[in-house]
Amino acid sequence: MAELVLALETSCDETAAAVVEGGRVVRSSVVASQVDLHARYGGVVPEIAGRAHLERVLPVVAEALGRAGLGVGDGPRLQGVGATVGPGLVGSLLVGVSAAKALALAWGVPFVGVNHLEGHLYASLLEAPELPAPAVVLLVSGGHTLLVALEGPGRYHLLGGTLDDAAGEAFDKVARYLGLGYPGGPALEAAARAGDPRALRLPRPMLEEGLDLSFSGLKTAVVTKVRAQPQCPTPDVAASFQEAVVDVLVHKALAAAAASGARAICLAGGVGANGPLRERLAAAAGAAGLAVYLPSPAMCTDNAAMIAAAAAARLAAHGPDGLDAGAEPGLGFPGT
Ligand code: KG4
Ligand code: ZN
Repeated sequence: MAELVLALETSCDETAAAVVEGGRVVRSSVVASQVDLHARYGGVVPEIAGRAHLERVLPVVAEALGRAGLGVGDGPRLQGVGATVGPGLVGSLLVGVSAAKALALAWGVPFVGVNHLEGHLYASLLEAPELPAPAVVLLVSGGHTLLVALEGPGRYHLLGGTLDDAAGEAFDKVARYLGLGYPGGPALEAAARAGDPRALRLPRPMLEEGLDLSFSGLKTAVVTKVRAQPQCPTPDVAASFQEAVVDVLVHKALAAAAASGARAICLAGGVGANGPLRERLAAAAGAAGLAVYLPSPAMCTDNAAMIAAAAAARLAAHGPDGLDAGAEPGLGFPGT
């Protein structure tokens, strides 16, 4: 019991809670998605997200405890309670942080604040503890696109990142432009299956320019090309855009591995659920003699198990955080 950490994740539009044992074994992981609530607005509406978190957070915590074979009465025997403190939507973060602090206070156990981006790094360590180090993590989500050198739990540094839009944001914006609905990434991937990736000639931004990335120009290029070739079928546009993003991500991940002497590459973040990205990254890493790790799609997208794993490691390395800790919506990558 002393090895169990409960964590909450409410940074965006998933209300999640999980119990992890020894920082490595997932005892339960519950994710309540709000996709249905935001779909008709074409994107996440912060006020709706905050309210939905408030309604769902306690049932989700109760379910996570129950699935781990625990009850509320077992709380005092937990090692700690963690929550994502940032980055994210302030009204959403506050729900998880406040609930976690209240539970920690009531149970008399430590509270640990977790950086959401650090959490995504722990997703790969949870599923593949044998991952050879050093590794490069390609963290591609709706809010972030980062290349991180990972030496081991708690030991990592930033190699590069997007200078403007995140990869997932570009997927979402192009999907919206093409009228494919929300959430954009999976909808665009589905549309692209019937398309020709060579139909539109699109740029590969910053391909040979170091380890930083840029996606806003690519999005603009899609709009410009579609205006010039309005007859181009939507699946062809989607496939051409997806191919350009995947080309850039795979190229940069391999360049980051070469620059940092990595032995493995792993994916993290919601865009890591993208089929063509997974296939192309696995093939390219294999050809370069690198191990590759592709987390399950559920571990790519937001969940609380990765937050609990990060919380357990933080607790061991830095001890608990004070109950005066608040939400930090603009938090950057740790150490930068
Ligand atoms: O990591 P995540 O669940 O939340 C953030 O921390 O942002 O990532 C969500 C992002 C969204 O932009 C979504 O469109 C994208 O991941 N995504 C995908 C796919 N599934 C989710 N993008 C491309 N292909 C997918 N299959
Ligand atoms: Zn995320």
